[in-house]
Amino acid sequence: MNDLDALLTQATADFAAAPTAAELENAKARFLGKAGRVTELLKGLGKLGVDEKKTRGAEINQLKARIESALNARREALAAAELEAQLEAQALDVTLPGRARGMGGLHPVSRAIERIEAIFGSMGFDVAEGPEIETDWMSFTALNNPENHPARSMQDTFYVDMKDAEGLWLNLRPHTSPMQVRYAKAHAARHAGADPMPEIRVIAPGRTYRVDSDATHSPMFHQCEGLWIGEHISFKDLKVVFTDFLRRFFEDDGIETRFRPSYFPFTEPSAEIDMAFGSGPLKGKWLELAGSGQVHPNVVRNYGLDPERYIGFAFGMGPDRLAMLRYGVSDLRMFFENDLRFLYQFR
Ligand code: PHE
Repeated sequence: MNDLDALLTQATADFAAAPTAAELENAKARFLGKAGRVTELLKGLGKLGVDEKKTRGAEINQLKARIESALNARREALAAAELEAQLEAQALDVTLPGRARGMGGLHPVSRAIERIEAIFGSMGFDVAEGPEIETDWMSFTALNNPENHPARSMQDTFYVDMKDAEGLWLNLRPHTSPMQVRYAKAHAARHAGADPMPEIRVIAPGRTYRVDSDATHSPMFHQCEGLWIGEHISFKDLKVVFTDFLRRFFEDDGIETRFRPSYFPFTEPSAEIDMAFGSGPLKGKWLELAGSGQVHPNVVRNYGLDPERYIGFAFGMGPDRLAMLRYGVSDLRMFFENDLRFLYQFR
């Protein structure tokens, strides 16, 4: 082996031994750098005769080219290994199962309320919401409750140990009926001077509270108030609207309704609305669904309207009860226990 072949072998071995790109560049310098072995050889050419210089020069240049190509081969190998290592480090195991995200859904009572809003909405009813902490005046007085009416008593109503700015006692509203007054007052004020005033047609769903708890009563429950006031609104309209609503809500055109005389301070006459399904397991069985009646003149006056001119009806129903009937739930409390095994059935 001549000295040039030995140098090529040496360089190739040094390159192969360099574990990183930086060390490879150091090895390169030892052979091809300014003071490298090949450079030294080229410098030595000056001492030779013309012919020898030619052959020796050509041999050295060939050696230089081979060393360069060995260097490049090693550079590529190092870069490939580095990429390989990087890919390895970032590897994604596509065979691992993913992390499932629990799918939520609307609460059955929210679904029932959305259905109620959609059906009454299609009949031209506005949807209104109001405060759950109410004044004594809104919950009772404005609704024509006598001062000593039992509904005001501590057994039925949750009182808040606080008065409002005008010194009125506050309570957790025991029904949505105060929304009749809030909505009608605002409507009357908004249309003051309009003759006739545009009709009031509104439903007001929301949470209500009473001291009560068993399979069909919960201290927090839902109600949905309905109010339709105009110049010629009668009980007949109530019957048509409410029966139509029930048939659409339960998707049963055979539903019958019955108005049973009752008493509420804020309506006169008053009626409980009962319904019977036209099909299904409860077919023909009368179920109590809502309180209703023609709004009492004193209450119309508290709306800020003339009871000699404006007349109409109100009703109050329980969306919880509608949801129980629609979904076949036998215990109201299940709606409010937040047991996922129950709730997941409604996703
Ligand atoms: N507010 C009454 C209740 O809670 C229901 C009702 C509303 C009755 C409107 C008549 C008119 O029982």
